[in-house]
Amino acid sequence: MAVTIPTARYTSGDFAALENDRLWPRVWQLACSLDHVANPGDFHELRMGPLSVLLVRGDDLELRAFQNACRHRGSALCEGTGRDLIELRCPFHRWAYDLTGRLREVPSRREFGTLGPDGEEFGLIPVRVDTWGPLVFVNLALDAEPLVDFLGAVPDDCAWARIDEFRCVAAVSIPAPCNWKTLIDGFSETYHVQGIHREMLPMCDDVNGPQRVWERHGKLQQSYGLPSPRLRDRPDDQSVWDAFVEVMGVRVGNNSQRDAGPAPDVPSGGTVRGVIAEIVRERGVDAGHDWFASLDDGHLLDMSQYNLFPNLTVLVFSDMMQVVRSRPGASPDDAYMDAFSFERVAPANARARTKPIDLELAPDGELPIGLILNQDFANFGRSQRGLHQPGLTHLTVSPTEECRIVNLHQNLEQYLGIAPSELEVL
Ligand code: FES
Ligand SMILES: [Fe+2]
Repeated sequence: MAVTIPTARYTSGDFAALENDRLWPRVWQLACSLDHVANPGDFHELRMGPLSVLLVRGDDLELRAFQNACRHRGSALCEGTGRDLIELRCPFHRWAYDLTGRLREVPSRREFGTLGPDGEEFGLIPVRVDTWGPLVFVNLALDAEPLVDFLGAVPDDCAWARIDEFRCVAAVSIPAPCNWKTLIDGFSETYHVQGIHREMLPMCDDVNGPQRVWERHGKLQQSYGLPSPRLRDRPDDQSVWDAFVEVMGVRVGNNSQRDAGPAPDVPSGGTVRGVIAEIVRERGVDAGHDWFASLDDGHLLDMSQYNLFPNLTVLVFSDMMQVVRSRPGASPDDAYMDAFSFERVAPANARARTKPIDLELAPDGELPIGLILNQDFANFGRSQRGLHQPGLTHLTVSPTEECRIVNLHQNLEQYLGIAPSELEVL
């Protein structure tokens, strides 16, 4: 009983316009990490298709967000990420706002008559802002449900992982030749592991990982350090170890991707998965996370992948966290893949003053995002091209393997007001 989804949702300008009108201005979405705006005077601009939101940490330590538009003739006030702001001064005609968004200076002010008491009426237009762990979310709809309600069951589901301790150490933003949904769909199923990530098969169970969907969001739990049931010949421990190091060697302190060295000894009655889990446990305890000692192998090694509607995936591990966001670009065929890497720090360590570094392309053209994300990236343009072919009117997806994609489209229909549903069950 496959489900069909109209391909036009991925290619049509009218559909993208509907999203720009009814989705992006009304939904909670990731703006940046807390580390981008940790200190007074820090700012960050989120661009989302035509939308631009400005986040500013005030001198009072309060984090605020505004629509990035000067009240005079609309010029955007800030671009990118930066620090040490003492005011928000429009570069066009130099209207100036304080970090709370209040208008406080207008050159030749008398010519404008009264702009309201204390400039309050002409302050910057506020945007809702809230945080979950180290992630900062915004919503342009001032009457939106609170973030905690939007996230639903997700924060409790991963409370064990103490995500407050994660610090963003790197962020990269890469233009991708595809629709934003083509991109995020690639992070909403593991059916493609046997297609484009075959290196993972000896170290990952890509078949039995339980998936679930809540009202808006989804989750996959995936196990590592054991071979895929798809492999007919069961790999030996050395092959599991080699594949683990190639895909995520940093977790066991082994970055020598091409030559992992001999697999550690597996005690009789034990498994290579258990041995790898023990390495992660010991590294965690050594780094000051005593609670790793009581984590079971599943929590230590496995991935909890959350798909947050509409365009975010949060990959939570005991020892690291990765976030991928898909942002719409200028046309339905353009998006940005934004990848954020987080490391766990002991609670005693304060949030760093340093900003996450913005990574750049390596000289060989490889994106600085690791083997697996490079493979995902290479697929986006290929998928998008196929979706444009006139004979292909619908995608045909599995309601189980690809339930998180179906859920995305069901929620999208709600936001866009598409009723009755255009998703057909064959
Ligand atoms: S547009 Fe900002 S001061 Fe004129
Ligand atoms: Fe992938």
